[in-house]
Amino acid sequence: IGSSNGCEKTSFVFLRQELPVRLANIMKEINILPDKLLSTPSVQLVQSWYAQSLMEMIQFLDKSSEDQRILSNFTDALITVRNRHNNVVPTMAQGVIEYKEAFGVDPVTNQNVQYFLDRFYMSRISIRMLINQHTLLFDGTTNPAHPKHIGSIDPNCDVEVVVRDAYESSKMLCDQYYLASPEVAIQLVNRKASGQSIQIVYVPSHLYHMLFELFKNAMRATVENHESSSFLPPIKVTVALGNEDLTIKVVIISGRSKTQKPRLFVSAFSSKPFPSLEDSHNAPFAGFGYGLPISRLYARYFQGDLQLYSMEGFGTDAIIYLKALCTESIERLPVFNKSAWRHYQVSTEADDWCVPSKEPKNLSGYNSTV
Ligand SMILES: Nc1ncnc2c1ncn2[C@@H]1O[C@H](COP(=O)(O)OP(=O)(O)OP(=O)(O)O)[C@@H](O)[C@H]1O
Ligand SMILES: *[C@@H]1O[C@H](CO)[C@@H](O)[C@H](O)[C@H]1NC(C)=O
Ligand SMILES: *[C@@H]1O[C@H](CO)[C@@H](O)[C@H](O)[C@H]1NC(C)=O
Ligand SMILES: *[C@@H]1O[C@H](CO)[C@@H](O)[C@H](O)[C@H]1NC(C)=O
Ligand SMILES: [Mg+2]
Repeated sequence: IGSSNGCEKTSFVFLRQELPVRLANIMKEINILPDKLLSTPSVQLVQSWYAQSLMEMIQFLDKSSEDQRILSNFTDALITVRNRHNNVVPTMAQGVIEYKEAFGVDPVTNQNVQYFLDRFYMSRISIRMLINQHTLLFDGTTNPAHPKHIGSIDPNCDVEVVVRDAYESSKMLCDQYYLASPEVAIQLVNRKASGQSIQIVYVPSHLYHMLFELFKNAMRATVENHESSSFLPPIKVTVALGNEDLTIKVVIISGRSKTQKPRLFVSAFSSKPFPSLEDSHNAPFAGFGYGLPISRLYARYFQGDLQLYSMEGFGTDAIIYLKALCTESIERLPVFNKSAWRHYQVSTEADDWCVPSKEPKNLSGYNSTV
């Protein structure tokens, strides 16, 4: 809508239908979580936010799109919804921790909760994307810093600029925390237009988020594994643009590995104590354990991916894949239907792989005639 000088009315008519649909889809999925998880205060709170926002959105279904006051009330309502949901990620995580502490967790529930959280956070990314587009496009002003942006989308997003931004912010935190930080070496490989800067159509804030998380992890691993030496090996970043993919590789040499192996799922059941919500403004350098999983969701949201390859005792490669063509960067959304529902029902009761024991089995108890 934004790229074709679309009008606010069109966007209003689309969103008043689409937002309730997305909210309702994920609310149905919240409803099939285990009862004991649903009854934790944190999950109750999250549910009440969703219910409230859904009610506020459907109020607009029968309103006239010709009335400018309604359009401006709608924008206000969107901003209210966005603010209400600011703390959804830590609150949901808190609920899962409460549940785990009170009831313990079996592998089946664990698997279902991981599956749910990925879909839940992805749904949230998509809802916020839509809200941001509307509020940015129709607030009556053009973004003075970025006049060419279409809402939050940059049609000529210069990847190197975002990489440097993310590196600098992470470096600042790292210097504060460890009093040292590794350098960065950036290599650009443009296979489409050799020698030119690498640009794609993308949401710079999403790309920044992913890179910032990768840099924080990379710096932490580098610094913590080189405590005894004065030299920190630089972080190597390669950005490659081909016909289909834009790939960003962040490589670190961590030497002897002290940190745990990277995990790419939402570590809802991490053993780390969860920082209290009051502290969340004062974000620590690491520790929530959802830096990587959320970053991967951002990559997947527009059909990309994020992978980690770790060589113990040597280093880690983190790779972000994005679609080079904007026609392929389309939303990837969870949908609640029979297939999704079934996913929560089928449960593998127990493992069907084993590790053989060293002692031979005592078969004398078996009837040999059988
Ligand atoms: N480049 C890396 N080298 C070595 N270990 C890594 C690397 N990246 C991640 N890890 C390991 O994977 C874990 C999970 O990373 P993740 O970013 O998801 O969580 P975190 O850094 O612990 O917390 P936060 O949510 O604040 O980012 C880290 O704690 C770290 O042990
Ligand atoms: C806009 O919202 C205000 C307060 O929320 C309300 O009083 C007013 O009637 C709304 N206007 C329209 C046209 O719906
Ligand atoms: C659920 O929705 C997806 C996406 O629309 C579709 O591919 C799938 O077939 C649906 N499943 C059922 C059981 O309707
Ligand atoms: C094997 O099992 C039988 C009974 O089931 C027992 O009497 C015997 O001692 C066992 N042998 C060994 C080596 O454990
Ligand atoms: Mg991290």
